[in-house]
Amino acid sequence: MKSEETIKTSTQTILVTGGAGFIGTNFIRHTLNKHPDWRIVNLDAVTYAGNPANLADLAEKIPERYHFVHGDIRDGQLVEQLFAEEQFDGVIHFAAESHVDRSIHGPIAFAETNVLGTCRLLSACNKAWEQQGRPDFRFLHVSTDEVYGSLGSDGFFVETTPYDPSSPYSASKAGSDHMVRAWYRTYGLPTIITNCSNNYGPYQFPEKLLPLMIINILESKALPVYGDGKNVRDWLYVIDHCEALLTAFIKGIPGETYNIGGGAERQNIEVIHTLCDLLDERLKLNAKNSSRSLIQFVKDRPGHDRRYAIDAGKIHKELGWKPRFDFDTALAETVDWYLDHKDWINYVRSGEYQKWVDTNYKER
Ligand code: NAD
Ligand code: TYD
Repeated sequence: MKSEETIKTSTQTILVTGGAGFIGTNFIRHTLNKHPDWRIVNLDAVTYAGNPANLADLAEKIPERYHFVHGDIRDGQLVEQLFAEEQFDGVIHFAAESHVDRSIHGPIAFAETNVLGTCRLLSACNKAWEQQGRPDFRFLHVSTDEVYGSLGSDGFFVETTPYDPSSPYSASKAGSDHMVRAWYRTYGLPTIITNCSNNYGPYQFPEKLLPLMIINILESKALPVYGDGKNVRDWLYVIDHCEALLTAFIKGIPGETYNIGGGAERQNIEVIHTLCDLLDERLKLNAKNSSRSLIQFVKDRPGHDRRYAIDAGKIHKELGWKPRFDFDTALAETVDWYLDHKDWINYVRSGEYQKWVDTNYKER
């Protein structure tokens, strides 16, 4: 067990990468609210998935605690300059290309950002960390359960499950995990890796299953279900993930990996039925014109993993984290957030997003 002195309890100045995306936005809002003496610098390249406007109110109200930097994790000079200016206590690395379907259409960007980008970031952070000589510095790498590949109908992913990624996305995240471990073992950089299951909640870009289905129901568009709809994902409310990340950042042991999951396994079709029922109620649709009639089974995703399920016992036993939010309640709240934020939906659905939807669903 790590000694008390190296456990982070004090004021922190953190570099967050990819904080203008879905989980990063939720993490920054949650953390600044929970730790009123922490400061966050958000380095984000603002790809199609990044939206700094998600945090514009913080930049205005608390500029001394939240600062946005438009830049790329692959720009080592910029990262080193930020370290020189801010003397970061730690890094939380979210920045990535994150969508499996996009990785099938354009895998190279995933290798460039997720693997090479992570290497360049590690390199710059390591240089700065060696100069600072801080024993309590942490580099937290936010990864996915998809690195473990696909499960059959039983079993769970544990931290020692061999990596067996199926898509260019999961392979590139697996590559980034290996790089993070290499920086720990070779250079001693105090890194921690977390592998989390599927998140849901506010601010998720509407290419992922849940926001896509919610918005399609609102617009009476088809709900494309890949294959037989019986693929299983373990769903976790994004704030639970943020809490787990803070726990791992503050109490985690360098060199360790922690699996994070919601213990809420559902088949895709079950989740879609639940969403349809929630929206039917809110939109006052009856059985005759139920949104369930929009469901369309389409050609399966190539290499589609059948089942993901996380054993989160290690982070529970060793660091004391467990999910707080119940799936049905948090899903209903998520639906209400999207209903209340139609301006946000319209804003993020740019021309670029429309082009992507056309490419992805053209041949299905
Ligand atoms: P997202 O796609 O919503 O956000 C990614 C962010 O990274 C965007 O703001 C984008 O502009 C930024 N970015 C991309 N390339 C960059 C670069 N080269 N330099 C700087 N910024 C860059 O992703 P998300 O869903 O918020 O996921 C965040 C992280 O969590 C990812 O690493 C992902 O692999 C991991 N993760 C996601 C889930 C999930 O369910 N969404 C689950 C487990 C792990
Ligand atoms: P997704 O949100 O893309 O996350 P991931 O692939 O990282 O798990 O997809 C979740 C599940 O939903 C996955 O099994 C694929 C399926 N899916 C559909 O059936 N239709 C869709 O339009 C999308 C985007 C996903």
